[in-house]
Amino acid sequence: MKKLIIKKTEELEEWRRNLKSNINFIPTMGNLHYGHQKLISTAKNDNSNFNLVSIFINPLQFDNKSDLENYPKTIDNDIKISFSSGADVIFIPATEDIYPSNNKNIKFLKASIELSSALCGLNRTGHFDGVCTVVYRLLNIIKPKNLYLGEKDWQQLLILKNLVQTNKLNISIKSIPTQRDFDGIPLSSRNINLSQKERKLIRFFSNELLIAKNNFKKEKKINLKEITKKLSEEKILIEYLEHLHPYTLKNLEVDDNISILAGAIRCGEIRLIDHVFLMKRSPIIAIDGPAGSGKSTVTKLIANKLKLLYLDTGAMYRALSWLLIKEKIDYKKEKQLNNILKDISIVFKSNTNSNQDVFINNYCVTEEIRSQKISSIVSQISAIKEVRKFLVEEQRKIGKSGGLVAEGRDIGTTVFPDAELKIFLTASIDERAKRRKSDKKSKDSNEIDLNKLKELIKKRDFEDSNRESSPLIKANDAIEIITDGFSINEVVDKIIDLYNDKIPKEIQIQ
Ligand code: PAF
Repeated sequence: MKKLIIKKTEELEEWRRNLKSNINFIPTMGNLHYGHQKLISTAKNDNSNFNLVSIFINPLQFDNKSDLENYPKTIDNDIKISFSSGADVIFIPATEDIYPSNNKNIKFLKASIELSSALCGLNRTGHFDGVCTVVYRLLNIIKPKNLYLGEKDWQQLLILKNLVQTNKLNISIKSIPTQRDFDGIPLSSRNINLSQKERKLIRFFSNELLIAKNNFKKEKKINLKEITKKLSEEKILIEYLEHLHPYTLKNLEVDDNISILAGAIRCGEIRLIDHVFLMKRSPIIAIDGPAGSGKSTVTKLIANKLKLLYLDTGAMYRALSWLLIKEKIDYKKEKQLNNILKDISIVFKSNTNSNQDVFINNYCVTEEIRSQKISSIVSQISAIKEVRKFLVEEQRKIGKSGGLVAEGRDIGTTVFPDAELKIFLTASIDERAKRRKSDKKSKDSNEIDLNKLKELIKKRDFEDSNRESSPLIKANDAIEIITDGFSINEVVDKIIDLYNDKIPKEIQIQ
């Protein structure tokens, strides 16, 4: 494919009209560094869309004339870097092209007041309005499917997500983690203007943020005053240093798990920003839904893709049911039940087929718990208060430090009500019966007539939804996905997109 450089807006619009494929758009202001390279190559590797990089120094987002004049300009090198990192087209418009003086239709946008009233917005009047205006203009010209942005400018990312949402643009925003230089400072086009002394100061600042993050892991709190004192002792001029909610940029609530510690400092003429995300525990995804909704398959794939632990709570109820039958326990008798619950250990272990085996009191029951015999009693057993209490505690122990995706019927409501992402996966009874019938794992289902299976599913739904203890209900904050007509991969991708919307990429790689 021939690489293209387009300089005129009309030319780009003409080219766009004739293009059949989708576009990944990577907006930049030039002076490209490894952070931009990573954005361009990530977009290239994500899909087979056209990769378009724009290079445009947007005067509207500079609140200071000398900053605009001193902004590094390295166009020849930028072209080389863009193409070698995976750009197919580079758009390099002139200011008059983006903001033609004779065009009264240019829409000057205002950034979300909520999001731009914090952090950088406090001292950079009009900056985010300028960013919104140029990005909106570029999106209208380029009409991309995906917009790629760095998490280094986290507030900008939130404001642009809000812009896409409020203007109902059909564009997905993809982000990549902040890229850092060998000495830990975030890569930024302005870094080349730093003197050695200034660079030392920003290194100190970034390192203090990192120390705060590591301390937070142990202590679950930070001391802003102490950090400010240490920075001031180094004569670092702090513009702001804030510990906030990462998505609203408002003050934190006690129960918030993820937060952002963000700061801006001044080094001579240069202003630099950096941030870290803090977590009390790693993220949790809760996937609930009725039998046969595709939960297990989807959850396993998500765990694999996101490198999260897979917690199959249904298998725990099934394993317990298996043991109660094997030990001939009359589970309706509280004493007998409590006696056995005292000595139960359920463990998951990865097996050679990259699946998990379930062990209950050292018996490997992976296969046997899928029989129709277990399917027919597990709902009754899991409705018993003592059973639920015991297993919910076990599940919480496994999920104490997070980093997992759990599937079940009461994960989002009872087990992990504080999960970052809650999904309620469902499908029509017809669809679920069909799936169950062709499910190789549920051995006996193959022998049962489809109509009978539908009856069994209806019965199970009724029992699950009407039991006294932790009935199957959708959590208020769960997102419902009806999987009829969708392939497994489509459902998995949808959930991963939702996860990416809720969890910064920077946290996902920790
Ligand atoms: O992040 C940047 O480089 C700029 O703010 C952007 C998004 C290219 C808009 O000018």
